[in-house]
Parts: sequence; C-alpha cells; structure tokens
Amino acid sequence: MFSCGQSHRTYQAKILFKPCYHQASGERSPYQQENNMKFTYLGHAAGYLETASERFLFDPFLTGNPKASIRADRIDPTYILVTHGHSDHVGDSVAISKRTGAPIITTFELSQWLEAQKAKVESLNHGGSQDFSFGRITITIAFHSSSVTEEGGRPLYLGEPAGIVLETEGRTIYHAGDTALFSDMRLIGDETPIDLALLPIGDRFTMGPKQAKKAVEFLRPKHVVPIHHGTFPALTGDPHEFVKLAKGTGAEIHVLQPGESMSFT
Ligand code: NI
Ligand code: MN
Repeated sequence: MFSCGQSHRTYQAKILFKPCYHQASGERSPYQQENNMKFTYLGHAAGYLETASERFLFDPFLTGNPKASIRADRIDPTYILVTHGHSDHVGDSVAISKRTGAPIITTFELSQWLEAQKAKVESLNHGGSQDFSFGRITITIAFHSSSVTEEGGRPLYLGEPAGIVLETEGRTIYHAGDTALFSDMRLIGDETPIDLALLPIGDRFTMGPKQAKKAVEFLRPKHVVPIHHGTFPALTGDPHEFVKLAKGTGAEIHVLQPGESMSFT
C-alpha cells in the first residue's frame, strides 16, 4: 500500500512515510484517499498537503532554502497559501503560480503585490473566510511583521501577517505563519477543532518551544508539526525540547525532517 518509501516511527509511534511528490504527470499516490491526508514538511515553514482532490502548498520558500527538500520546479500544487510577505515565506510562490496556474491565497496587500508580478491570486483578510470548491479558508491574526526589503534596505510593508485555517474534506489544518504567542489562539481552536497545526518554534523571530507549548494548550490540535526551526543558525528553538514540553497537552507532536511525511485520518 505504501509504495512511496520506507516507513519509520515518531515519538508517538505514528508511522511516517517518505515523500512522493506529484508531478505534472498527475500520478496519484495509493494512500491519497478519502479519510487519509498526507502532509509533507518541505523545510522551514513550507509544507505540502495532499488530499483526495487537491494539493496545497504552504509558504513555498524552496530556492535559497538550505533545508528545502524539493526544487520549486518539481512541485505541482493546485493551491498555494502564503502567510506573510517575508521572503522566507513568499519564496517561489510567484514562479510556481505562473507555471502551474495555482492561485496564491493570501492577505490583501500581499496579494496585490503578487498579482502585479503576474501571479494568480485570491485575497482575503483577517477574520474573513471564503468558500472554495475544496472547502473553506479563514485568515487569522498573527503577531509578526510582513515586508520585503527594497533597494537601499528600505522595507516595503505588505499589510499584516496572518495565520491560515484550511478546512477541507472534513479536516482542519492551521498554519500559524510566523507569530508570537497570543491567547486568542484559543478562539481559533474553539471555532473549528484543529486536526493538524503547523507551529513555528525556532525562536528569535517567532515563538520558541516554551511559547509553542502554550500555543498547543490554547489551540488543542490533534497533531502538531513544529516548523521554522534549524533552517539557519539563528533559529535555535529545538524541536525535541518542544516535544518534551508538550507532553501532557494531548497533542501528538511529529518532528519531521525536511522531506518527511505524515499521514493522518
Ligand atoms: Ni516572517
Ligand atoms: Mn519567517
């Protein structure tokens, strides 16, 4: 059944699978079925969620990412979701959107900037939801910044940073983006029970392990994948420390190496 690679085990003895990316051939993996979604960590804050009918690409910083597990020209999403304007999140989204025709779903100002670069976009803003053929997207708050640096070091601000809630095929996935801890995460968990939360733990620019543990208590997700750690030396937050701290929260923490996948029902 699991033809795409070897299985191995996480802390909670959940079976993980090596990635098997879908390229333009449209080939389907055998476990890409209803009631079984596959999430692949691509490194940094980038992730790839394969469902029965869609392929969602989050924050595709691949080119220039020392930990990226796939090249930008090798991935074939149907939707791209971007949390904020920093280059380690926007990444290759314009090039991938142009090549595949996948729209970039993001916040208003950022979507305008990306559209000006000829990407296909869908814009929302904080607190708003939008129904799509696959389900629903909600843009949540995040405490961070959102800019690109122009010539001479001047920042061009691209609106406010966001988190993204994706509801599809009976599951809810929350990508927190880059953020500080905030207690309204509790409201995000109240709104829709979260199956998978992608939480930054790298510290310095975002939550570290201690704050991320508190975020798990607020959000109450079933599964958590720590992201935004170890890509660069400055991101010192340790996923294993996070696992230790989050024991007893009730969430299953999956420490994925870039390129590793987990499937969840
Ligand atoms: Ni950022
Ligand atoms: Mn970042």
